[in-house]
Amino acid sequence: MTEMHRALDQTALDAVLVPAAAGGGSPTRPIFLVRPRDLEAGHGLPALEPRHRTWLKAVGFKGAVRRHALLPSADGTIAGAVLGLGDGNDLAPSEPVETLMGLLPSVLPAGDWHLATPTKDDNLATLAWALGAYRFRRYKSANGDAIPRLVLPEGVERARIAAMAEAMWLGRDMINTPASDMGPEEIEAAALRIARHHGASALSIVGDDLLRQNFPLIHAVGRASPRAPRLIDITAGRADAPKVTIVGKGIAFDTGGLDIKPSSAMLLMKKDMGGAASALALAHMILATGLDVRLRLIIAAAENSIAGNAFRPGDVIRSRAGKTVEIGNTDAEGRLVLADALALADEEAPDHVFTFATLTGAARVALGPEIMPFYCDDAELAGSLTAAGDAVGDAVWRMPLRTPYEGWLDSQVADMNNVAEGGFAGSIVGAMFLKRFVPHARHFAHFDIYGWRPQAKALGPRGGEAHAARAVFEALSRTYARRTG
Ligand code: BES
Ligand code: MN
Ligand code: ZN
Repeated sequence: MTEMHRALDQTALDAVLVPAAAGGGSPTRPIFLVRPRDLEAGHGLPALEPRHRTWLKAVGFKGAVRRHALLPSADGTIAGAVLGLGDGNDLAPSEPVETLMGLLPSVLPAGDWHLATPTKDDNLATLAWALGAYRFRRYKSANGDAIPRLVLPEGVERARIAAMAEAMWLGRDMINTPASDMGPEEIEAAALRIARHHGASALSIVGDDLLRQNFPLIHAVGRASPRAPRLIDITAGRADAPKVTIVGKGIAFDTGGLDIKPSSAMLLMKKDMGGAASALALAHMILATGLDVRLRLIIAAAENSIAGNAFRPGDVIRSRAGKTVEIGNTDAEGRLVLADALALADEEAPDHVFTFATLTGAARVALGPEIMPFYCDDAELAGSLTAAGDAVGDAVWRMPLRTPYEGWLDSQVADMNNVAEGGFAGSIVGAMFLKRFVPHARHFAHFDIYGWRPQAKALGPRGGEAHAARAVFEALSRTYARRTG
């Protein structure tokens, strides 16, 4: 399928995945996926030679989850490798066993490898390899170590895997790039490049034009930075297909504004455009695989800086939607830029609106760095998002959107405040605020993502991550088959 897909960067892909034919005749080394019971006498894995069973016993390899061992050949070279899968109770529902393949690019020697044990989902196993092989080397002077390559298993959907891998790499690269080189303009450039690649129509509204075209909140948040705030609006797909609109928070750097963050909290704030990165990654997946939707991508890009013209606590700003917002805290800037972007999205009453945003620290307090809370007004859609996320190893978890806390956003002087008093239910309050700007869309789902992986895991090294993009793509793929003809 989708062999019409042109890769963004074929060289990067070729460095980690090789088509079976390009193996060049030279033998590739097998990877065996092993459960503990496969190593018991007379059980499983006939392909594993007796001498290798002996070897594994000698080195104490028992098939434990995430452990690996290299297999020797008679002449002292490496004949293959085994990866332990554990006994099935070692992994969470959101960790399909195929994702463990992502561990191998970091531990296997360079050279070409092939999967000798079929899995239930070789597409996912192959994608996991590509995601685990990702490295961010933009600022490294020396070349990295040569990395192993996986020969594509037979029958996998090469173009779809490639599109997903490059989308995720792109999102990670954007997040990992320091704010000095990833300002609002560079976020815009990344989005326009994807739009051009797919022949999508695109426009951006920059700086004071945001005021003229009625995006007062985006302007207010971004006006203290010399790097002008902007709204990027991209559309593709046939006009009468279901309207899917993706909205991303693109705060290039979040100082907190005048409600300045302490240094420990500011340290990682180059990742505050993680929502834009996830949104762009998802858009690339949808467009590259040709899902039959009318896609719209809206990114609100700004830098939350401090200067004499910065917006202040206590200011009241009339939003695009007409409602006035009292600024209770300039550090709750993401919901402000998203309010105007969502108001724009809502004007055409789309079928689906998805927001991706590194909106609150409270989301991490609730669910930690590996499960992304989301808020959705539709139980069926929510169920399909959770199931899709689990199936692909991109965990999302539904949280309540309609709550008794609605009054917490009341303001003495304006239609609403951008924060609640006290820190209770911070992620929920952020979602409740956003929801007010999407009255017409048929369905709304908001992902309060982290955008960061604090420790290396199977699906990637420490650093930026385009969280929830694969979960939503999987759910959409199950609903909207690709265009044919
Ligand atoms: N970008 C931050 C949220 C954030 C912080 C995400 C740390 C991931 C890690 C957001 O703009 C913010 O500062 N939110 C405030 C909201 C508060 C002022 C209501 C927060 O979470 O403290
Ligand atoms: Mn903030
Ligand atoms: Zn922020």
